[in-house]
Amino acid sequence: MSMRLFIAVNFDDAFKQAILKNIDALRGNALSGNFTHKDNLHLTLAFIGEVETKRVKDIRAVMDAAECEPFSISLGDLGSFGRRDEAIYWQGVRSDPQMLQLQADLVSCLTGSGFSVDTKPFKPHITLGRRCRMRDNLDMRGFSLPCTGNTMDVSFFSLMRSERIGGRLTYTEMYRKNL
Ligand code: 2AM
Repeated sequence: MSMRLFIAVNFDDAFKQAILKNIDALRGNALSGNFTHKDNLHLTLAFIGEVETKRVKDIRAVMDAAECEPFSISLGDLGSFGRRDEAIYWQGVRSDPQMLQLQADLVSCLTGSGFSVDTKPFKPHITLGRRCRMRDNLDMRGFSLPCTGNTMDVSFFSLMRSERIGGRLTYTEMYRKNL
């Protein structure tokens, strides 16, 4: 048996509420789009993909071995990529060097343990919406999100499982490492 896994920072309710305000602002200017559900908001540190269930303990060991003090993150600017009529919109995340070090350590230890992790440069972001089509006359250069700069203290990170349950994308925490 296998499951689809990633390592992420999950958010407290206040941080999620700030992000939801931004999603509402985007939605208000969109003709269509698949916007992220509150339960699914997160910041990915490492995407692992399909993993045999028996190897989950090796990921937990990598997480346990990571040494990192608690750190803060804050909401940055809006970005998008993809076709104009079907773009992904995301909000950047600013963080201190500790989180960047943690992310790099996780990727290198996972790779060392034989997992094929995406090693592209890390661009911390929260996906706000996928397949978004904005109003034709909207000038994105002048579009600013209502909530930037909101901060959250991070005291743990999580191994997350991604699956479709009843057609709905569902993320479940499998393991948590306290900082
Ligand atoms: P995204 O939001 O930018 O798509 C679960 O899918 C999480 O892992 C999402 O945060 C997703 O980022 C991230 N991720 C990174 N690389 C991925 C990949 N190759 N396939 C699916 N998700 C990926």
